[in-house]
Amino acid sequence: MVDPFTSELPDDYEKTIAEFGIKRIDENLKKKLPDHYLFRRNIVFAHRDLDKALTAKEFSVLTGIKPSNKLHLGSKLVADQMKIYQDMGAKIYYAVADLEAYHVNKKELDELHEIAVDNVADLLALGIKKDNYFYKQSTEKEVMQLGYLYARNVTYNMMKAIYGEKTVGETMVSLLQVGDILYPQQEKFGGSKLVIVPIGLDQDPHMRLTRDIAFKRKLVLPGSTYNKFMRSLDGSEKMSKRNEMGMISLSDDSKIATKKIMRTLTGGRETIEEQKEKGGNPSECVVFELFTYHFEPSDEKLLERKKACEGGKLMCGECKKQLAERTCKFLEQHQAKKSKLMKTAEKLLLK
Ligand code: TRP
Repeated sequence: MVDPFTSELPDDYEKTIAEFGIKRIDENLKKKLPDHYLFRRNIVFAHRDLDKALTAKEFSVLTGIKPSNKLHLGSKLVADQMKIYQDMGAKIYYAVADLEAYHVNKKELDELHEIAVDNVADLLALGIKKDNYFYKQSTEKEVMQLGYLYARNVTYNMMKAIYGEKTVGETMVSLLQVGDILYPQQEKFGGSKLVIVPIGLDQDPHMRLTRDIAFKRKLVLPGSTYNKFMRSLDGSEKMSKRNEMGMISLSDDSKIATKKIMRTLTGGRETIEEQKEKGGNPSECVVFELFTYHFEPSDEKLLERKKACEGGKLMCGECKKQLAERTCKFLEQHQAKKSKLMKTAEKLLLK
């Protein structure tokens, strides 16, 4: 069972996809999508109804993130996708999932507000335009009301089949997320429309519940796209806001980021001699993953790096140093942009 309330990595993407009728983003669909490394490299690898977005007159995008901590490189994957869809002409709706964080992370709403402002400033700095729609679950009363109203279409058996045994709080959080996802189809936003939801595969149970309710309510079934998870820097779980040393935060300074990268799990051998002889293993390496997911947009250069590693020509120390340089440059530029956007972010959330 896929569980949206933990940070474990799903052990088998293929099985999950097959079981729930999610489709791969295949070569044919890729040809019609913008040429972006997230698609080319199968980082955004699966979907429901994304093909419909390509033929529809217009489509919107809704996603949400818990403001439980500063955003990290895993969350950046979602932001990068939002940017792709924005460039395709989609309007973006962004839910600050503060009520969810209140339940799951046990933080108070005013503390969550501060983090939310920081998160939204990150999104703006990553290129999401401020004239999209940003809101907090806790102050967007209509969303809460939608969750409440849609509860009429949900039985405990359905919940149990989709999520397993859950607490009442988690059940309410799930219904709230249904409210988020169907919110753009309300009259105040112009009524029924196709909405695509970029998420990690762990969030798919919420999509199944939402699509079921959308069907019963005669709304357009929302689509979704699924990105692979970034692993934590030690490779043991998905990159999560709960594990400080396991993630690179968009707010890390160069010193910390470098320190974290130097400790990151690689696919290196026990000794330099052995590595020169047998080569490293990029498929196990989180450093290579960071290049692939974020810091090496050129496929050609990425392949060169892979070959140099496998051929025993590029050692982990050097490779990490190169990654640290790139990461720090990105973080510095990002943070400079972001600091000018904090006020705007604050305004967007004080409605
Ligand atoms: N549940 C998501 C998470 O754990 C956050 C979220 C809330 C969300 N509402 C949403 C995601 C709507 C997509 C769509 O991070």
